[in-house]
Amino acid sequence: MLTTLKELLQVAYRSNYAIPAFNIHTYEDAVAIIKGAEEMKSPVILMASPSAIKHLGVEIAAFMMNELAKKTFVPVVSHLDHARELDIIFRAMKAGFTSVMYDGSDLSFEQNVRNTQIVVKVARSLGISVEAEIGRVGKSEDGEEISQILTEPAVAKEFFQNTEVDALAIAVGTAHAMQKQEAQINFERIQQIQNVVDVPLVLHGSSGVTDEDLKKISRMNFGKINIGTVLKTVYVKKIREILSSNPQLKDQLTLLNAASKAITETVIHKIELLGSSGKI
Ligand code: G3H
Ligand code: ZN
Repeated sequence: MLTTLKELLQVAYRSNYAIPAFNIHTYEDAVAIIKGAEEMKSPVILMASPSAIKHLGVEIAAFMMNELAKKTFVPVVSHLDHARELDIIFRAMKAGFTSVMYDGSDLSFEQNVRNTQIVVKVARSLGISVEAEIGRVGKSEDGEEISQILTEPAVAKEFFQNTEVDALAIAVGTAHAMQKQEAQINFERIQQIQNVVDVPLVLHGSSGVTDEDLKKISRMNFGKINIGTVLKTVYVKKIREILSSNPQLKDQLTLLNAASKAITETVIHKIELLGSSGKI
């Protein structure tokens, strides 16, 4: 069933679990993720990143995610991830996304606030949820290096007071696109932010976070945990394995089905860690 981020977070916030948000790039990714969520009876957020939007187009991404969402019994959010331009946000809203992230993290505080306010105003009138980011999570989805700026608690507070977003992404030690688990989470900083801002938090770059830390974080005030790179990694690894053991293979569905299975298994594992199993 298709739902909004706000609706899911109302229940997950201040609870002992967090909702998994997975990046999709293809139809197979989306189906495999929903399958994992169904097996675990977990709500799930499907996210279309800038590279997914480039690949699929806004309208097809929205249509695909929403149709898949309508066909399943688990609550699914169709979320636009890391949109840096207002134009793409409005197109996504029109196309049917139930949630959008406005990413003004590389702008000045004032400009980030101003643009986020515009997005929130339009989104509210349409019943669409909004996530924004304060501080900056390092290394972009496209792979360019960006130094991380940890979120300051007082700045997060002021940002939220001015924007009233439904979910707030903060920088607390992760970086995007980590291949290995090496994020150094600053738990003290998380606590300080939680003490002053009453909003569900979002963790980006979660592929780099250890299982132990993911578990711990999902029991804090995080409502949404973004996971992308690890799914790409297991997918491509599986394809490589199959092709090297069977170089004569001619049927792409054999490849895609096996790679999708690897995604479903990873999704199930992450859901176990985040504690969202059975929360539908
Ligand atoms: O917005 C997407 C996420 O932050 C994914 O990060 O690819 O490092 O897991 P990741
Ligand atoms: Zn991210």
